[in-house]
Amino acid sequence: MTQLLGKNPFRPGVGTKPLYLAGRDRPIRRFAAMLRAAPEQPANMRLTGLRGVGKTVLLGEFQAIAEKGGWASAVLEFQPGHNREDAMAGALLNVTQDSKLRLSRIERIKKAVGGAVKSAGTLGIGWNEFQVTYDPMVEQQREDITKALFEVVETAIQKGRTGFVLLLDEAQIIRDETKRDGEHPLSLLISSIAALQRREIPLGLVLCGLPTLTGNLLKARSYTERMFRGEEIGSLEESDAREAFEQPLAESEANVAADGDLIGRVVEEVEGYPYFIQLWGAELWDAAEIADVDRLTAGLLDVARPDIYRRLDLDFYNPRVETLTPAEQDVLLGAANADYPPLEVSKLNDAIEKTPGNVNVLLGRLVDAGVLFRIRKGEYDYTAPRFRDYLVRRARASRAAGSPTPGGSDEPTLFP
Ligand SMILES: Nc1ncnc2c1ncn2[C@@H]1O[C@H](COP(=O)(O)OP(=O)(O)OP(=O)(O)O)[C@@H](O)[C@H]1O
Ligand SMILES: [Mg+2]
Repeated sequence: MTQLLGKNPFRPGVGTKPLYLAGRDRPIRRFAAMLRAAPEQPANMRLTGLRGVGKTVLLGEFQAIAEKGGWASAVLEFQPGHNREDAMAGALLNVTQDSKLRLSRIERIKKAVGGAVKSAGTLGIGWNEFQVTYDPMVEQQREDITKALFEVVETAIQKGRTGFVLLLDEAQIIRDETKRDGEHPLSLLISSIAALQRREIPLGLVLCGLPTLTGNLLKARSYTERMFRGEEIGSLEESDAREAFEQPLAESEANVAADGDLIGRVVEEVEGYPYFIQLWGAELWDAAEIADVDRLTAGLLDVARPDIYRRLDLDFYNPRVETLTPAEQDVLLGAANADYPPLEVSKLNDAIEKTPGNVNVLLGRLVDAGVLFRIRKGEYDYTAPRFRDYLVRRARASRAAGSPTPGGSDEPTLFP
């Protein structure tokens, strides 16, 4: 009879906290140091990286560090609909309102159970006073956001906290239009924060997202270059990647061990990408359970590989492609025949049967959809690691199915 190994210790998912967070000591130390230096030095961080490298998980860790350090905090994940001034402002007003209520509730509960409540502080300045010295407020929305942020910091201080940190995920979604009379939600956000920080109001900001975020910020306000500490995270170094695989096994209740050469092969195959480590681990664990063994071996990896890639395509890659229009999918699949890396527009034009103007527009849409990002003028890359391999698999599967159209094949994926 099959012995159950117990709960799978690997956690492939979206923002799912791993059992062991590997290789992120440096950004964690920098974040903690940044908070300690605030408010005299504005606490703003830009955290960027490709899909699945662990940005959301790290953002959660930042929040835990902030709270432990006495700061109040809130996380907001932007959705595509937030990329407008009124929608972005609305989302900020909601999150600050929720935070104020939460701070009051925590204090009430602590008092009710006789817990220690830190003595109330004061910000030393009221909104009316602040407003007088504030830049002329041309826009009502900017005033609304600045006031909401001011008030949440004020509440945090009154409840004995050090300040308030706002952690914004998927921030690449918020970007300014180039037209002067267009929408400028990113500038609106940044200028409101900067106005408060200039007066040393203890407010911190983390903007987290795809690499496109960096360019969006530069375009929004030239001074953002100096306003943010940039942290770019990516794949894990070999020793960290090994730990990311070994530690969850060590921490699980079942006594499952992994062979040294298996760990080496996994780390090499997944190139140190955190999501892949979790996925490979989870599938190997399941395979061991089915095979009724308590050892993860290279042989097991060979058996499990088709299932691993099937799940990888289904869970990680397909959802990114399936929401695209057929024309956008054509560009992606066509691009799989052009030299890489990087994707160069001139070579894409040769590989794709569309006019250069058309290709250009579609590339822009793929950037907006978060599938590609622009490295520099005329050069692009995929936002998900190993996306190119996936596109090649997908194109092969669709050819095998005899489908003349590249997109939308339900056929089983071919494996590398
Ligand atoms: N440092 C790490 N060590 C081990 N596993 C990690 C680490 N960071 C993230 N993971 C795992 O990787 C997966 C992806 O993490 P997360 O969702 O935070 O990535 P992301 O960068 O936010 O991706 P996306 O851009 O798609 O939102 C999760 O399953 C998580 O458990
Ligand atoms: Mg994320």
